[in-house]
Order: sequence, then C-alpha cells, then structure tokens
Amino acid sequence: MLKTISKDLTKEHVETLVVPVCEDADIHDDRQVAALAKTAKKMAEFRGERKQKITFYSPVGIQADRVVFIGMGKKAALDREDLRAAAGRGVRVLLEGRLSRICLLAPSEKKVGLGLGDILTSLMEGAFLANDVLGTYKKEKHKQPLTEIVALVPAGREKEFSALAKQVTVNCGGTLLARQWVNMPANMKPPAVFADEIVRHADRAKLKTTILDNKALKQKKFGALLAVGAGSANKPRLVILEYNPAKRARKTVVLVGKGVVFDSGGINLKPSASLDTMKTDMAGAAAVAAALISTARLKPDLRVVGVMPLVENMLSGQALRPGDIVTSHSGKTVEVGNTDAEGRLILADAMSYAVKTFKPDVMVDVATLTGACVMALGEKIAGVFSNDAGLSQALVLAGEKTFERCWSMPMPDDYKSLLKSELADINNMSSTRYGGAITAALFLSEFAGDIPWAQLDISGPARNGKAFDYCPGGGSGFGVRLLLDMLGKI
Ligand code: BES
Ligand code: ZN
Ligand code: ZN
Repeated sequence: MLKTISKDLTKEHVETLVVPVCEDADIHDDRQVAALAKTAKKMAEFRGERKQKITFYSPVGIQADRVVFIGMGKKAALDREDLRAAAGRGVRVLLEGRLSRICLLAPSEKKVGLGLGDILTSLMEGAFLANDVLGTYKKEKHKQPLTEIVALVPAGREKEFSALAKQVTVNCGGTLLARQWVNMPANMKPPAVFADEIVRHADRAKLKTTILDNKALKQKKFGALLAVGAGSANKPRLVILEYNPAKRARKTVVLVGKGVVFDSGGINLKPSASLDTMKTDMAGAAAVAAALISTARLKPDLRVVGVMPLVENMLSGQALRPGDIVTSHSGKTVEVGNTDAEGRLILADAMSYAVKTFKPDVMVDVATLTGACVMALGEKIAGVFSNDAGLSQALVLAGEKTFERCWSMPMPDDYKSLLKSELADINNMSSTRYGGAITAALFLSEFAGDIPWAQLDISGPARNGKAFDYCPGGGSGFGVRLLLDMLGKI
C-alpha cells in the first residue's frame, strides 16, 4: 500500500525512515534529520556519495527504530531519476532485512530545486517499482514485498498531493504486471493461455476484450501471423483490449504489441546463446496490455485500443520456410527472406487490421524487434521510428520524464529498396546486414497506411541483465510508464 501522509518525527513513531542525502549539501528542512545526516556523513564509510548507504539505529531526536541514509552524490546534478534510484535502494535494504514498512523522507523542494509533487512522485515510483520480488517456482518460499510504502509530506500540504499515491500505484502497478508476464517461462504462456491471462486482468479493469482464435484468424485472413505460428503446436491468438471514455473521445489511439511468446528463430534457428532470453520476445504485448489496464483506471479522454498478436515462432514439419511467400492481412504479399524476422510479419497483420477496424488518429507499435537496435543504442534506450515528428517528439519527451529513454531514429525513403523482392510485394529481410533496425521499421511503415505512426524498438531495455536500483534482473516492464505518459502528450 502506497500513501502520502504527514508526521511529526520527533513525536510519532516510524519503523524505518529512509533519508536521501547529498555529499556536498544539506537538502532537508527538518533540523533533526539534517543534524543526523551531518553526523552520518562524518562516518568513515559514508560520505553521501552515490550508491553509499548507512543505517543508524534508534537515533536521538527522532522516533524511528532505524534511519537509512542513502547517498545520491552531488546536489547540482540531482534529478528525478536520482530520487527514484535512492528510494529504490532504500526499499532493497528493507527487503534484504525482511522488513515490511518503509517511510520515505522527501528532501526540501527549495534546496534541491524540484517541485514537491515531482519529488514525491519520483520517490514513490522508485519505491513502488523496487518493491518487486521475483515470483519463483521453488519449494522454498521467496521474499515477501513490503506491505506499506509511505512518503512523508510537510504538515499542511497533504491535500495538494492527495491524488499522487493512486496515480503512481496505477502507473507502476502496470509496470510490475508487465514484468511478471515477461518473466514467465514460455511453456507457461502459450498464446491461448497468455491471451486468457491478459483478458482475466482486463476484465477486472472493465475493458472491452476480444480474442481471435486460430479459426477466426484464418477466416479474417491473417496470413502472416498464421504463417509465423504454423511451426508450433500452440496456435496463435489476437487479443484486442478497448478503453472507451464516458464522454466523447478526443482521439483514437491504437497500441500494437509484439507478442512472440518464444522466438526460436524458426527454420533460421537462432544460435544457442541468443535463445535463452527469447521467452521475453512478448515484452511489447505485455507493455501494451498492462498500459491498457492502467489506462482503464486513469480514465483519460481518449479512446485507446490495444492490439496484441500472440504467437510462438518454432520449427517443425509445418513451419514457415525461408523463401515462402505469404499473403498478409493487407493483401500485400511478403517473401520470407528470414523466418527469424517474424516480429514484423505478425505486426504487419495486426497493424493493417487495426487501421481498418479502428481508424486510429495515432498508432504506436511496441516490439522487441531487432538485435540491430541494441547494437545501435545499447541495452537501456529504445529506438523510435516514426512518420510523424510530433509523435516521435511526444515519445522522446515521455522517455525523458519517465526515464524510459527513447532516441529518434531515421527512416530514409531510399532504404526501402533494400526490402525489394523479385517475386512478392516486399521481402521481410533486408538485402544488406547493415541498418537492420531501420529496415525493420521501414517494412512496418508499409502497413501503417497514412496514419501518424511510430515503432518503438524495445529489444534492449525490455530486459534487465542484472538488477539495478528499482528493477530486479529480468523483465523490466519498459514501455508501460512511457506509453501512459505519452497518452497525456498527444
Ligand atoms: N526477437 C528478435 C530481436 C531481438 C534480438 C530482441 C535480441 C531482443 C534481443 C527478432 O525477432 C529477430 O530475431 N530479429 C532478427 C532480424 C533479422 C533476421 C533480420 C535480428 O535482429 O537479428
Ligand atoms: Zn526473430
Ligand atoms: Zn522476435
């Protein structure tokens, strides 16, 4: 449970107080806390540098069992992400100690030069996102998450921030849900099962839900999606979630998420080292589904539709072959130059179906689309490819705010010739091995019609190699907070 309250620390008891500090400045208004922080910074093992921490037990002057000081480095460079990280590290100290309640002290807005709303939001986000213990399948019980996260608000200012805790809970709750799905092993989320699981959550949020099964997909001519699914005994599904506002919608936004529950590469089999993370190839669908579920709770004045093609890319006697030509839902024929470029095939069908069915004003795809994008931008930054400058800017700005970082990439028209096929309308594989993230986006652009559209390649940031301040190792839930913020910017 996340909440903001005010407390007189000299009189009211708290179990664990977490205090972010800077190495070169006092950043707190509370005099008792400031004095304690000064003492803490005199300790040999703690100077308030980034990543340092120290715990005082039953300190004089404050009614706390323990105070955990979290170093954030120099004040001049301090931003919202440092606050998220500090709160996240605080939560991790408590989880290690098997404690259950945390009380976060916000630094002074004047001293750190940020608004109190931003400070409280960042602290709560970091704490909420860090309070995520990996669900395991061991006999031995895993750690329990904290039961209470409190952010302290200066007396008299509670009302101003009364809506923040709910907002952070809904936003970050979506991230945790997406992480959980991404971390699930592939054998536990075949398309039919994952579809039901999404709908179970969506029903609770009162979204309109539709699942197209294999038969419906055949009838509606999803030729590319069915071709990718042909090699697996677990047949594909298309999940549609719809949020309709009570009043007239300002716009219709469609979000499309790649949901490859396991990407073996197909007949163009991936090498062993690349296979072990491929259960996470549905992170786009997870982010879109979770964003829709959060949207239903935030109630914006937009119509938001999530479209998630779910499929398993496997090899068998029935599998799609390199060189095959398939007729996509749009009617365009596609030569399959490489069965491992399956994401663009399933997205193409989902996109043309969405354009025809929902006539969106804006469409955004989210996908673990190319290894090339990880090569270009590394593991923490997503690539944005768009035919609309305003939309790509909205995504980049949302990325700065949420620290789910996005970088705008080019889509040069002349590169389209790299996707030429002798026999079909287009090839799913580029004729060169360079610029693979760009050619993937150019392929998709052929199925976006003339709608303002963006492709978000999250191949890098969808997964977290090792745990960091507010995210355990594994699925990161990247995209959920970004999409929710973006919806407010378009
Ligand atoms: N799912 C992969 C992309 C990927 C790679 C995501 C690494 C996360 C980490 C995608 O389906 C794929 O295999 N893409 C190929 C495309 C190529 C065959 C044109 C790639 O990136 O190598
Ligand atoms: Zn692939
Ligand atoms: Zn893939």
